[in-house]
Amino acid sequence: MPTASASESSSNQPESSNASGSIDHVLVEERLFHPSAEFTSKAVISTEEQYEKLATAARENPDEFWRAEALEHLHWFEPFDTVCDWQPPHAKWFVNGKTNACYNSVDAHVAAGRGDRTAIIWEGEPVEDGQPRDQRTLTYAELQTEVAKCAEGLTQLGIGVGDVVSIYMPMTPELAVAMLACARIGAIHSVIFAGFSAESIAERNNDASAKLVITSDGLYRRGKVLPLKATVDEALEKSPTVEKCLVLRRTGDDAPMQEGRDVWWHDVVENQPGQMAAEPLDSETPLFILYTSGSTGKPKGILHTTAGYNLWAKRTFEWVFDHREDDIYWCTADCGWITGHSYIVYGPLSAGATCLMYEGAPNFPAEDRFWDIVERHKVSILYTAPTAVRAFIKWGDEHVDKHDLSSLRLLGSVGEGINPEAWMWYHKKIGGEKCPIVDTWWQTETGGIMMSPLPGITPTKPGSCTRPLPGVVPSIVDELGNSVDSEHGGKLCISQPWPGMLRGIYGDEERFVEQYWSDVPDKYLTGDNARCDTDGYYWIMGRIDDVINVSGHRLSTIEVESALVSHPDVCEAAVVGRPHDLKGQAIAAFVTSNDRGHDDEFRNELKQHVRKQIGALAQPDDIRFTAALPKTRSGKIMRRLLRDVAAGRELVGDTSTLEDLSSLAKLREED
Ligand code: PRX
Repeated sequence: MPTASASESSSNQPESSNASGSIDHVLVEERLFHPSAEFTSKAVISTEEQYEKLATAARENPDEFWRAEALEHLHWFEPFDTVCDWQPPHAKWFVNGKTNACYNSVDAHVAAGRGDRTAIIWEGEPVEDGQPRDQRTLTYAELQTEVAKCAEGLTQLGIGVGDVVSIYMPMTPELAVAMLACARIGAIHSVIFAGFSAESIAERNNDASAKLVITSDGLYRRGKVLPLKATVDEALEKSPTVEKCLVLRRTGDDAPMQEGRDVWWHDVVENQPGQMAAEPLDSETPLFILYTSGSTGKPKGILHTTAGYNLWAKRTFEWVFDHREDDIYWCTADCGWITGHSYIVYGPLSAGATCLMYEGAPNFPAEDRFWDIVERHKVSILYTAPTAVRAFIKWGDEHVDKHDLSSLRLLGSVGEGINPEAWMWYHKKIGGEKCPIVDTWWQTETGGIMMSPLPGITPTKPGSCTRPLPGVVPSIVDELGNSVDSEHGGKLCISQPWPGMLRGIYGDEERFVEQYWSDVPDKYLTGDNARCDTDGYYWIMGRIDDVINVSGHRLSTIEVESALVSHPDVCEAAVVGRPHDLKGQAIAAFVTSNDRGHDDEFRNELKQHVRKQIGALAQPDDIRFTAALPKTRSGKIMRRLLRDVAAGRELVGDTSTLEDLSSLAKLREED
């Protein structure tokens, strides 16, 4: 057996009360998995000493460390003079240098004589005669030409340095090309996930004063065509700053074009010469805005700039995914999320990786599509989300068993905590017990991965994102801002600036300061709770707002959820607090299950199960069965809405990021 397991079970420990306002943790995970000697021997970081050396240098001598990293790993048209100008909460990195994120991602490889290397392997959703109908491969040299053509087209449409371009497109190579073309000329892209409504597009266009929207006629999703252009048309009625709309033909469906405003990609981009060079840009030139939902109020436009973000995305990709020449790397995210920005486009391409890009749904034409893709393309690194893993478990092992997954050597997880039971399934069923799992913790705001196992050296514990990457200095504080002891949960902060950090909320300095920098002086407040165990491993305990306080014990939602999910008949669980006269808060659980009847017997069984796993304190007071949980479009459970349902309140706040409003309506009916 290549992996060793110290113990095959997780267990509970007695709960403790606390006075300082730190969070009790109740679920103890004792399983430990080591990378195989074979994996370690070939790994990019292969010894603990190597990691220690990097981490110590980055912590103690950050200027020297990042100077060397930036000089070695980015192309500089003009050198920078200062590594980091830190005026809390504002950082400038690689001051006065000139570089270009598109050059680093594309041209640098061509210039180094590696233009024939495959950059993107793309597979569209439609299937004909059992085979994908649309497939394309782009080498780095071909990508360079495509990007230059698009940059020429954008320039012709009047787009230049500092202009904001909204991109609302399906997962086609042209989406990556459009992002890179903006970067090439210094325009700021704002990718809007192609599932958002006209209202949401307009809100984002207006907040950023977008000048151009790039879209397509339609989008394939689960065998159907969604009319993207029609949605954009509706949004443009309320987007006065948008002057032009560039439309890619993807589905061939009818797309009404407005004279003077709308132009086709094949007219404006395809016939260009493809010669335009990347513009040397100041290190702090804005690269993109990406909107992310806040718990209240309108979405926040998180701003990232050129050099620091690019370096962070590249180096974290190389460290965490242990990238090697012959890897076929597949990140299943959409470019509409930060994961797609950093780990489909800028990170892997800057590292010269071969990236697979898939357009469609994981269950089209059947529930084995992902495994079919892995087998056909011999994917070696797979990076996906816990919500997908839980869906695969629910769909059944038979879809996985049909395929040969032996090409896989490394698995990744991102977006939410992965419940230990889902982790174990991923490890056994997908990884064949031989692939390390990198559970990567980070945020839109952090630009790239902050905490993760290094797959060649870090023994993993299911449910823990393990340790910080070099250059990340976390600290955990209580309500008063004091550091908490190991094993106690508290607010997770980052104490030292890092190159990939957000530079602001677009157009809203006040909210930037208030949200991230007010609570704890000079530290970046992540908004997550976490604890660090005695081995120095970090455990994310959920968003700060999600803490439940039962009789003075502050509990984290993920632990109770993980206990529920460890019951064989439970697929997904979301746990929230609701007001309770005696206890302060009671625990309300929302559960999706297999085929078990939704009766009191099952309810009681689940309560007993949690009691056994964690303790009486964490036993849910209410259990509601539901067909689906309300999730954001990126797959995160929206506990905020469930809190309102559990308390019987009217729904307040922003629901624009909710994936399926009907799941919420159903929950109310099931009340
Ligand atoms: O709560 C954490 C959770 O997702 C949040 C960031 O969401 P977003 O900006 O959409 O970025 C998602 C992709 C990085 C975090 O504050 N989160 C993300 N990854 C993990 C996680 N929670 C636990 N474990 C993770 N690996």
